[in-house]
Amino acid sequence: MTEHAGRQPETALSQKLFIRTYGCQMNLYDSARMADVLAPLGFEPVTSPEGADMVIINTCHIREKAAEKTFSELGRLRRLKEAKAAAGGRMVLAVAGCVAQAEGEEILRRAPYVDIVLGPQTYHRLPEMLARAKRAGDAAAGRSGVLDTEFPVEPKFDHLPAARAEGPAAFLTVQEGCDKFCTFCVVPYTRGAEYSRPAAEIVAEARRLAGRGVVEIMLLGQNVNAYHGEGPDGRSWGLGRLCLALAEIEGLARLRYTTSHPRDMDDELLRAHRDCDQLMPYLHLPAQAGSERVLAAMNRRYTRGDYLAAVERLRRARPDIALSGDFIVGFPGESETDFEATLDLVREARYAQAYSFKYSPRPGTPAALLPGQVAEAVKAERLQRLQALLAQQQLAFNRAQVGRRLAVLLERAGRHPGQLVGRSPYMQAVHLAAPVTRLGQLVTVEIEAAAVNSLSGRLPRDERAAA
Ligand code: 5AD
Ligand code: SF4
Repeated sequence: MTEHAGRQPETALSQKLFIRTYGCQMNLYDSARMADVLAPLGFEPVTSPEGADMVIINTCHIREKAAEKTFSELGRLRRLKEAKAAAGGRMVLAVAGCVAQAEGEEILRRAPYVDIVLGPQTYHRLPEMLARAKRAGDAAAGRSGVLDTEFPVEPKFDHLPAARAEGPAAFLTVQEGCDKFCTFCVVPYTRGAEYSRPAAEIVAEARRLAGRGVVEIMLLGQNVNAYHGEGPDGRSWGLGRLCLALAEIEGLARLRYTTSHPRDMDDELLRAHRDCDQLMPYLHLPAQAGSERVLAAMNRRYTRGDYLAAVERLRRARPDIALSGDFIVGFPGESETDFEATLDLVREARYAQAYSFKYSPRPGTPAALLPGQVAEAVKAERLQRLQALLAQQQLAFNRAQVGRRLAVLLERAGRHPGQLVGRSPYMQAVHLAAPVTRLGQLVTVEIEAAAVNSLSGRLPRDERAAA
């Protein structure tokens, strides 16, 4: 969960905007863009919902009881909204993101004090929705919330102001939606069909970001390596081609992308990993499971052998690549033997880092109706075993960096005075003592120690003297 604070408003009439973001990087990006859309109306980001003029909760529907969590959060916000009204003010309450997309009508029915419900594809229309909500609010009687969860024909990217950057690393959405229909997943329903932005638009956005001092860009998409946007030459460009074009932008030292599907690791992308220095040696490539039977029931459309072959090809292209992944334990019908096949796959593929989850039945997805739902206690026990193995691998990967010199992009201040935190090429958090004037820069760091979740090190002697 992240709280987003955007940039200063462009008009004097300042109003307070609070956005709470749940879920993936895509939602973080969307929250930043919602703040961008509202900035010209005088909305200034604040860090607490108390007293805010507008509160947006940007929701995630991927796992667990997301809808219930949304309703309990709305219950708390309702009290703040009432307090504001009692003081003669007005708080506009909006629910955005994937829960809004999936349960929009239900939200307005159960929480009639919500003013706006909007899906991930319509936030460029926020100013218009806000005006409608205000009119409805002023009319008092017969008031109803504004619902906009369409998948509009006009792509929202054509209607958004230029993205702004706050640090040296930025997100850039290149692709949205998914046509893969894994049987456990809500994304094809909440985010809709696959859409790739034209390459020229992406390059222009990246140039603007670089012009504002951004050094690293994370390209985002639910199925980012299925990217097939229109190139400036009129041909369809894949992600590898796009990376090569972005690598030419002056000042952009690092490129990353997430999240990938193993089926879409094509030769062009592998060549980009081999030839493009800016493309960082880190790849998030979810396997989900190691058992053939479970992979088929998940409709992942690759075999265990295909996945391992993709990893092998990747390592041939970029031997030091750090592999990351996602796993689901306790998918319906998963036996102990199936689960052990997942552990085996983890041992074979070797991860630098990975996320793992208990299967969570999502209403409306095919797997939720499958027989053989696995007991909660079994899921919990399997998750623990998998996470123990992944933690071991992560620690081993981190320890292997001790004694090396790594390029670290310094992104933020650390918890201790005089400490900064950055990222290694392999996505590891690196803590070091460095002057605050180095924030935003790429520095060389001598790695001295490793823990499961981070590294620590120091600037080389000559650098320390210079600082
Ligand atoms: N249950 C558990 N995990 C899920 N994921 C997606 N849907 C579900 C679900 N129903 C996980 C997958 C995916 C990640 C973003 O969330 O591992 O890659
Ligand atoms: Fe969901 Fe990813 Fe499968 Fe698409 S490829 S359905 S986003 S898990």
